[in-house]
Amino acid sequence: MKSILITGCSSGIGRAVAMGLKSRGYQVLATARREEDVRQLSELGFQSHMLDLRQPSSIATAVDWGMNVSNGRIYGLFNNGAYGQPGAVEDLTRDCLREQFETNLFGTHDLTTRLIPQMRQHNEGRIIQNSSLLGFVSLRFRGAYNASKHALEGLTDTMRLELKGTGIHVSILEPGPITSNFRKNALAALERNIDVDKSFFAAGYKATLARLTKEGPAAPGTLPAEACLAPLLHALESTNPKLRYRVTWPSNFFAVMKRILPGRTLDSLLSRVE
Ligand SMILES: NC(=O)c1ccc[n+]([C@@H]2O[C@H](COP(=O)([O-])OP(=O)(O)OC[C@H]3O[C@@H](n4cnc5c(N)ncnc54)[C@H](OP(=O)(O)O)[C@@H]3O)[C@@H](O)[C@H]2O)c1
Repeated sequence: MKSILITGCSSGIGRAVAMGLKSRGYQVLATARREEDVRQLSELGFQSHMLDLRQPSSIATAVDWGMNVSNGRIYGLFNNGAYGQPGAVEDLTRDCLREQFETNLFGTHDLTTRLIPQMRQHNEGRIIQNSSLLGFVSLRFRGAYNASKHALEGLTDTMRLELKGTGIHVSILEPGPITSNFRKNALAALERNIDVDKSFFAAGYKATLARLTKEGPAAPGTLPAEACLAPLLHALESTNPKLRYRVTWPSNFFAVMKRILPGRTLDSLLSRVE
């Protein structure tokens, strides 16, 4: 039974993938940052522990626990936990940009570097980064999130080169719109950190608020969180895992557009997306 550690299992993709892997016989080390979610995950039959990506001590404790319950061998790491900080670039304070990077990049990097040595020791392992289509194209009012996912992709591409020949494979998942708590959590981050009424973009934020509060799918091509399971299984089990897995047609579409369109044409296409 192979062990895989997953961050952000309280909801959405992390929860769906954890359930799917568990039913396929993996030992899922399902982590979440809130105690009540950890308790709920334990009740569902997972090995579960708290892990808050903002806190190095929380990451260290969770890694010690994970090594213990997996008999010192964590085969897979799915870096999934993250959130989106909405807001125009000029409305982002240094603190809220830092907060975004603490979770989406620094915590993920910290956790990954703590698990690589035991993967090297066994000469095998799978690291899968949950990026986004916003890890390779950018949309308005999502600068903090775009930047964090672009940075994650840059760090991951580098890590893959450095791990070449070790038996540790690194893949990037690039979902498009997926049904989850993402918009609810983004709305909370907007309300926490952006003074919408005082912004030059006050009118523009109306569309952001409408998108974040809309019932049902926010965008065309939205898939359920379970759609991430098949690519994740491929990344874990194939002898030749892909570098990138694009989930949903918008993710595939924008990847092609980025490759074939001149920069300004791509900009005008992207600026039409609310
Ligand atoms: N939904 C989409 O359309 C979409 C598209 C592309 C990529 N993604 C990516 O998919 C991943 C999962 O998102 P989702 O859509 O499933 O949204 P979600 O339902 O909001 O799940 C996000 C998870 O990350 C956790 N998280 C947030 N901050 C954390 C922290 N400091 N430490 C540990 N965990 C933390 C959340 O925990 P709490 O419940 O405690 O907040 C939650 O479990 C993210 O990396 C996201 O960027 C999502």
